[in-house]
Amino acid sequence: MSLPNHGANAHHLYEILHMKMPEKVIDFSENVNPLGPPAFVKERWESYEDLITKYPDPHGEPFLSAAANYHNAHVKNVMVGNGAAEIFASLAKRYENKRAILIHPTFSEYATTLAPYHVYIKEIIAKQGLPLDELFDEIEFAEVIYICRPNNPTGYLAPLEEIIQIATYAKRYKCEVILDEAFLDFIDERESFIPYLNKFPNVIVVRSMTKMYAIPGLRLGYAITSESIVNETRSKMPHWNSNAIATTIGAACLQEEEYRLRAISYAKEMREQFSTFLEKWNCVVLPSRTNFLCFQLPVPTKSSEFFLSLLAKGCVLRHTENFKGLDGKWFRVGMKEKSQMGYLRKEMTAWFEGNLSS
Ligand SMILES: Cc1ncc(COP(=O)(O)O)c(C=O)c1O
Repeated sequence: MSLPNHGANAHHLYEILHMKMPEKVIDFSENVNPLGPPAFVKERWESYEDLITKYPDPHGEPFLSAAANYHNAHVKNVMVGNGAAEIFASLAKRYENKRAILIHPTFSEYATTLAPYHVYIKEIIAKQGLPLDELFDEIEFAEVIYICRPNNPTGYLAPLEEIIQIATYAKRYKCEVILDEAFLDFIDERESFIPYLNKFPNVIVVRSMTKMYAIPGLRLGYAITSESIVNETRSKMPHWNSNAIATTIGAACLQEEEYRLRAISYAKEMREQFSTFLEKWNCVVLPSRTNFLCFQLPVPTKSSEFFLSLLAKGCVLRHTENFKGLDGKWFRVGMKEKSQMGYLRKEMTAWFEGNLSS
């Protein structure tokens, strides 16, 4: 059976599969911080009302300066987007009729945003780690390479030295590197490539505010790169592309150091507990560094059955049928609150007991 593509918006999945949506549904296909937005968002909510009656700043202030400060960068090197998704869509135009490298399995938006621009895509499947030799063979002929770090859906964090090697090689061969750090907040800022950007004008680091701060509905992301790429990309983006509530909340989010540390340690605890549970049932677990993880059943032939059975119980996992290189044999699970993770483990245990002979 082929399962429909999805990621968040669980009700669509039930609709397409003609399944009755249970009253209690937990969407583990979504990867945002389960602790919810920082407390100040609720506390200051009424103060945001005034922002609705004015046009927002066209460059995304106050968030633009806050993001530049946070990364010790210049505002000229930062562009604000209506989510990282808008940044990818805007960057894709740069590569019209050119050649791009995608390393699978990875986030589907890279291919989706390139599709309207007749970009030739060289697809490379990574088995374990980044296939450096294969990448070096291709970079010479490509205009851009996309790297997701940590990778969605595997959670794999490629070593920073390898990214520096790729960026160096790409610079020599006039290839741009789009480095998606949407989930890096869950690791450590010292892992970011941003401090190296001054040596690599060919690298564009894309960041999202959605994941760590649990604000996907607000839409806020940004990119840091050379001034010329910022100017060229911004000139093709819509005026007032980011809204005033998002940029005001986003600027304050960046000051939430304690909140971030709490989220990092919470995600780690949930991930470790869930990995231990999966390994006890002989599942194969990929080593993730962020707030989701990928696993395979000990009997991958039962993957669809397992997925549908959990859906019926209100647990929505992310299947991987449309992720090249994973081909439906793996599941991605976003870390949630303790009680929700407990509910998932309970339902999975029931399925395992009934379907896996010991
Ligand atoms: C790896 C990755 N990058 C970027 C995004 C887009 O983030 P945003 O919500 O900021 O558009 C996502 C969303 O799922 C993602 O998984």
